Amino acid sequence: MQDIGSVGFLGGGNMAEAIFAGLRAAGMPGERIFVGEPRAERCEELRARYGVQAAPDNAALIAHSDTLLLAVKPQVMQAVLGEESEALQSRRPLLLSIAAGLPAARLVEWAGGGLALVRCMPNTPALVGAGVSGLYAPDTVDAEQRARSEAIMRAVGPAYWVDSEAQLDALTAISGSGPAYFFAMIEHLGRAGRELGLDAELAAALARETAYGAAKLLRESGEAPGTLRERVTSPGGTTAEALKAFQAGNFEGLVENAVRACARRAAELAAQA
Ligand SMILES: NC(=O)c1ccc[n+]([C@@H]2O[C@H](COP(=O)([O-])OP(=O)(O)OC[C@H]3O[C@@H](n4cnc5c(N)ncnc54)[C@H](OP(=O)(O)O)[C@@H]3O)[C@@H](O)[C@H]2O)c1
Repeated sequence: MQDIGSVGFLGGGNMAEAIFAGLRAAGMPGERIFVGEPRAERCEELRARYGVQAAPDNAALIAHSDTLLLAVKPQVMQAVLGEESEALQSRRPLLLSIAAGLPAARLVEWAGGGLALVRCMPNTPALVGAGVSGLYAPDTVDAEQRARSEAIMRAVGPAYWVDSEAQLDALTAISGSGPAYFFAMIEHLGRAGRELGLDAELAAALARETAYGAAKLLRESGEAPGTLRERVTSPGGTTAEALKAFQAGNFEGLVENAVRACARRAAELAAQA
């Protein structure tokens, strides 16, 4: 992978681990990955598993970081950045925030002001290297900093730029929260299989593997989802009957309403931060 300097992770939780595991797998040396994490035993575990530099010392972490990935929970972010504002102002790393719902301007203000910051919204499949991320950079971020942020997030899947911070709310409603929509669909499909008399484990496995296969086929065929749907739907056949029932229940409208509700909530949370 391209040389992206040193990357620090403020917080060594699930999402941080997914990203630095991806960076290590892409060939980034563990000597250039720094993790600040309060629990000593977690630091030990991360050092042993990934060969990264992990310690419960955020000021030292910041001193080593060309890019600092903000990966603590949103509710503790203000306190953590406030505590480290001196170290941040002295080192001035590029900040890359994955915190849900915290606006770029607010984060920069909490860090003491004047720092370049890119906001990113990954999703949970990043935990298995199959995430998708949205990135937003205000004008204060230069081309090299944008490229660096993108290279980091590409460690866990494709990364796409949006032009405005408000679009991150829309993106949250599709890819950020999207895995839960598919999980709900898989749950309902498995339950419906049980209702039809299938063994519970078998029904769950059929629903799960079908979702995986459908996504893999969609991705690898390069076809549009509508084309693939039409291809498995013969007139008067079984699939057509199921899709007719979806349509009668306004499946399309339901999905649209759900996505709108999610985007609205993301905007509300951002306004409260
Ligand atoms: N998980 C997702 O799907 C997802 C998706 C998009 C965005 N995000 C964002 O990613 C961020 C991390 O989420 P996560 O799911 O990875 O949470 P997580 O597993 O709870 O990770 C947060 C980590 O921060 C550590 N921490 C707490 N206080 C700290 C401090 N003062 N200094 C350094 N580290 C500290 C926590 O340590 P302790 O455990 O010891 O408290 C924990 O290891 C959040 O801002 C979230 O909004 C997550």
